[in-house]
Amino acid sequence: MSPPLIVASNRGPLTFERAPRGGKLLARRGSGGLVTALSSALIEAEGMWVAAAMSEGDREKVAASTSGRIDHVEGDARYHLRYLDIPPDLFDGFYNRISNGVLWFAHHYLWDTVTSPSFGPDVEESWDAYVDVNQRFAKALAEEGEKLGGDTAFLVQDYHLSLVPRMLRDLVPDALIAHFSHTSIAGPTYFRMLPARIHDQVMRGLLGADVLGFHAPAWAENFLLSARQLPGARVDLARSRIVTEGREVTVRIHPISVDGRAMREVAATPRVRSLRHALNRWRDNNRLILRVDRLELTKNVVRGFQAYELFLRRNPSWLGRVRFLALLSPSRMELPEYREYTEACLGEARRVNDALGREGWSPIELRLKDDYIGAIAAYGLYAVLFVNPVIDGMNLVAMEGPLLNRRRGVLVLSRKAGAYGRLGRYALPVNPFDVDEMADALEQAMAMPVDERTRRSRGLSRLVLANPPARWVGGQLEDLERAKRRRP
Ligand code: G6P
Repeated sequence: MSPPLIVASNRGPLTFERAPRGGKLLARRGSGGLVTALSSALIEAEGMWVAAAMSEGDREKVAASTSGRIDHVEGDARYHLRYLDIPPDLFDGFYNRISNGVLWFAHHYLWDTVTSPSFGPDVEESWDAYVDVNQRFAKALAEEGEKLGGDTAFLVQDYHLSLVPRMLRDLVPDALIAHFSHTSIAGPTYFRMLPARIHDQVMRGLLGADVLGFHAPAWAENFLLSARQLPGARVDLARSRIVTEGREVTVRIHPISVDGRAMREVAATPRVRSLRHALNRWRDNNRLILRVDRLELTKNVVRGFQAYELFLRRNPSWLGRVRFLALLSPSRMELPEYREYTEACLGEARRVNDALGREGWSPIELRLKDDYIGAIAAYGLYAVLFVNPVIDGMNLVAMEGPLLNRRRGVLVLSRKAGAYGRLGRYALPVNPFDVDEMADALEQAMAMPVDERTRRSRGLSRLVLANPPARWVGGQLEDLERAKRRRP
């Protein structure tokens, strides 16, 4: 029997949306590894998921509920949700300004430090909103935990909720708390760019947990190095442990993966099949280079197009015989940097098309749309999957593609993605800043003999299938179990 379980994340597993013309409120399930892994664990444990109401439909659901508690049944699955309705101004400070505008930037080294960041009083104000929302989460978790009983395991997710472990510990001193970071983690020098108050509160907030989880060793190490600078914290780097305020905090690595079986089922549906046929007709006789990304500053789309242009210029025999399909879903458009980056990506694609395109053939097709099903269809067809983020906590595209590809496609993968540690030996590695090397990798991938492609693509799908999402949750629950046994 699993222990009672409560998950907390900013974005919940279900988004509610009104059907057209004032129809019913329909639930749409998120598609990432996190939702998949945690949903099945929660359904099994009859646990609860606490999240922020993000859509209009979510808010309508909360308004019609008691204290935001929503029960939703889908087939055999029963979800117990509690959605927090946070006033829009407060949510803006918490989500757009601090979570995405400051913490995300810091952890992904996104500032151009000659001119940014420049922290002024507005950041202090937004920080208060971040603290307030974290406090609301902690309070809701404490309430739900009390209902479920003493040994409830709390699984807190990501940089939006970095203060929750400490706040929850203050409310429920013996709570069993794990926090998991899905991002990369900046090294101590860069992370110290944050205002001291924010830096220290984030570190102390996280250290309220019993266990801190990361996707890759490099992120865990960076966290430990930052912790070493905190007064009163004793860090054992070799054993990945921190002792602070008389408590022990363990740092663990649990790489998340995708649900191979479920994805293959989706890929076999008539809808995906017909999309795949349509794409194949569009592709015509061209080989396909594919990228699938959130339109995100870390994904390195512009340098990716430059590398492709260089590849074409060096290998003109490929002109008219290859197409680069970039499926990019708009993201975080509230932030000006994301709007500017979208324009930069569109501009670069236009430039390459103008420079190298010919009658009836253009080298790049950029589709700007949230289209998960379209991506599943495209995965079946690529000759090369191009995943070149400047930095990435994990990167699930690098796993989804090889699972669903039917053409022994080659994965070109950035050494800076967390996924590289697991998949690197079957991929062609690239330095995401080195356009020249990326162009070479594209050339090598396009020219790779079929037996070599077969060996690599089989290796990749084997590795992905060997690490089902349930293992990711299971590992964290075992860590908490061990933490409990260690207590006096
Ligand atoms: C990516 C990151 C996660 C993060 C999520 C939030 O998937 O890897 O760490 O939680 O984005 O995205 P959102 O659309 O909710 O801002």
